[in-house]
Amino acid sequence: MATINSNFLKLQKSYLFSTIAQKVSAFKANNPDAQLIRLGIGDVTRPLAPAVIEALHKAVDEQASADTFRGYGPEQGYEFLRQAIIDGDFTPRGINIDLDEVFINDGAKSDTGNFVDILGTDNTICVTDPIYPVYIDTNVMAGRAGNFEEGAWDRIAYSPCNAENNFIPALPTTPVDLIYLCYPNNPTGTTLSRTELKRWVDYALANDAIILYDAAYEAYIQDEETPHSIYEIEGARACAVEFHSFSKTAGFTGLRCGYTIVPKEVTAKAKDGSRVSLNPLWNRRQCTKFNGTPYIVQRAAEAIYSEAGKRQVRETIDYYMTNARLMREALTATGLQVFGGENAPYIWFKTPAGVSSWEFFESLLHEAHIVSTPGAGFGPAGEGYIRLTAFGRREDCEEAMRRLKTWMQQS
Ligand code: MLT
Repeated sequence: MATINSNFLKLQKSYLFSTIAQKVSAFKANNPDAQLIRLGIGDVTRPLAPAVIEALHKAVDEQASADTFRGYGPEQGYEFLRQAIIDGDFTPRGINIDLDEVFINDGAKSDTGNFVDILGTDNTICVTDPIYPVYIDTNVMAGRAGNFEEGAWDRIAYSPCNAENNFIPALPTTPVDLIYLCYPNNPTGTTLSRTELKRWVDYALANDAIILYDAAYEAYIQDEETPHSIYEIEGARACAVEFHSFSKTAGFTGLRCGYTIVPKEVTAKAKDGSRVSLNPLWNRRQCTKFNGTPYIVQRAAEAIYSEAGKRQVRETIDYYMTNARLMREALTATGLQVFGGENAPYIWFKTPAGVSSWEFFESLLHEAHIVSTPGAGFGPAGEGYIRLTAFGRREDCEEAMRRLKTWMQQS
């Protein structure tokens, strides 16, 4: 008889954003006239940049002629895009990345989830808390998380980030092998300074750990000091894998494209004690399980790196960051304690004393018709917080802030 992977039975009934979507659908069914404002999942609302649209049209037309038609592409991605990434995102920062260290993906979610395929199930995981749920759920599926007890997985080391520690995670106090860091952070919208990031790189090097660094929001960094890539830190090439996404950078949530950097120096131990480079292993995994991101989408992504593309993408990021500023100011003016939103498109605020994040989420939905994300959905340290995304349309963000102010004054 066929059996299932019983680790899946350990997962919470549904993925965080699916649970929220179900709650919102139920509300909508009972309140069909309610004008909902959706500031929950971080989905973008601005259209794709004209340079991207132009590249898409051109690539589609190429598919219409036998001379320019493309079938299967390289599993690692086309060289034109991998080179554009190196030239656009790394060389200007003084970071050397080889072409065969860049793997084009269909968005960072897939690769952050899939990467653990090549790592042993006996590895111990460390996460900052709260955190993007994909990191934990995929390790639950692989059997690395242990059991869920008292709101946390007993084989995962949590490093809490909250207002009390200024959202700076402490280094692990027990041995860990794989460390997930996401900066600028989803969900808190906070950043890690160069000095703080160096502490983690030094820790990983000293303890033979690997850092899985999610840089999906790096394009939102506004200040000069915050690192955009972990490879800006000395030694990181030997201990870190980095994930990028064009979803938030350039509105590709629907198109699906990003990339993963796997430096050849990153190694892990085999059962016989030898060191194995992760780069060829990941390549082997991708060649077997992935047939590449569509050609037309990779051409669209390449266009982000053209002069016009860079300018247009920057304008869109500025639009969202203006939303973030307006929202921060409005929420602060209502007396809430607000974090993030300065170098990231997420605003993170404390719920009023004694109100849990799910309670606040429900009240906000039912009474002000605003969809948010409850902090507790991102991990135990997210309890008592709410996340709002700045990816909404300007008028929706402004209206949401007006509603929230009125609602807070009434309640
Ligand atoms: C989020 O809202 O946290 C993100 O949009 C989820 C994702 O990128 O998959």
